[in-house]
Amino acid sequence: MEVRVISMKEIESLGISIVEIMDVVEKGFKLKGEGKVELPAKIGIHPRHDCFIHAMPCYVGGEVDAAGIKWVSGYPINQEKGLPYITGIMCLNDPETGFAKAIMDATWITAWRTGAASGVCARYMASPESEVLAVVGLGVQGRTNTVAIANALSNLKMVKAYDLYESQGIKYKETISKDLPGLEVVLCGSVEETVRDADIVVTCTPIVANPKRFVKSQWLKKDCLSIAVDYDSAFDAEVMARADAFVCDDKNQYLWTQEQGVYFQRGYPKEDGILGDMGDLCAGKVKAPREGRRGAVLMGIASHDVLTANLILQKAQEKGIGKVVEI
Ligand SMILES: NC(=O)c1ccc[n+]([C@@H]2O[C@H](COP(=O)([O-])OP(=O)(O)OC[C@H]3O[C@@H](n4cnc5c(N)ncnc54)[C@H](O)[C@@H]3O)[C@@H](O)[C@H]2O)c1
Repeated sequence: MEVRVISMKEIESLGISIVEIMDVVEKGFKLKGEGKVELPAKIGIHPRHDCFIHAMPCYVGGEVDAAGIKWVSGYPINQEKGLPYITGIMCLNDPETGFAKAIMDATWITAWRTGAASGVCARYMASPESEVLAVVGLGVQGRTNTVAIANALSNLKMVKAYDLYESQGIKYKETISKDLPGLEVVLCGSVEETVRDADIVVTCTPIVANPKRFVKSQWLKKDCLSIAVDYDSAFDAEVMARADAFVCDDKNQYLWTQEQGVYFQRGYPKEDGILGDMGDLCAGKVKAPREGRRGAVLMGIASHDVLTANLILQKAQEKGIGKVVEI
């Protein structure tokens, strides 16, 4: 087999924009809603407390026809070692022969496709008049979620941001001021101060088995879109369970995970509390309101990875980037 190996630096050199990633992620949601995606719920192992390594296979059919798997780890204990929380590799296969055709870094893919999924959620569920975004947890996801949501909402003026560590806030402000020069960045001293008055709140803190759920429902505006990138770690169950509309990215994965008895317990919405998933929204099967209390749990699905990796591979092939090795 000949396999193209593509490093993170090489992916970065391709200059892929957040809008391009949001477009492929949205296409994946739409095809999923049309029943053209094979997407088993992710499975995982847990070699250390609160740490995971997940296997995420997926086949995207329809006009895309792409298959692959991501092997991704999340280690909150890496922060104190100065190492990234999320790292991973991605393998793309030829759907015709099953042969592996590319292996690439999935740390970059995970960072940007996850932000892109929140951006797509904002495309469908946010009020276009939204001016204030609140971000809690200012690491990799804090940045990519801000960039994607700002790209989805042309009226956004300000981002209020909070992290447990001051140094993370300073780094975030520097980066976002370069990424999005027109956006005012306000670092806040508490979660409550951050989320009050926000039109959209996104939480990007570590996923833990015993969540503190420190974002309280009573602090949020009546018309607020709450997006959880960190499972049920940050938002009080009421934020999601009492929302006028609650969606997830994939109903099957959300319900399967809930059944395992660790995440989305203690008051999080059950099947009858789900308006639909992002597949239903993007396929036009369900319409979500753009006002009132809205909640979204975006756990991350493998179609994002396969489609982003496919985009990377196409561009890398066109530009002759990556190293082709015989296996
Ligand atoms: N849903 C998805 O598809 C998806 C994909 C990738 C990552 N994630 C999740 O997103 C989260 C963030 O990942 P990351 O790569 O940005 O990690 P990261 O380590 O880069 O950032 C996490 C940030 O949260 C901060 N933090 C920790 N506890 C906090 C608290 N109580 N209040 C405020 N801030 C706090 C940390 O200081 C750090 O800056 C993780 O839970 C990860 O598993 C989800």
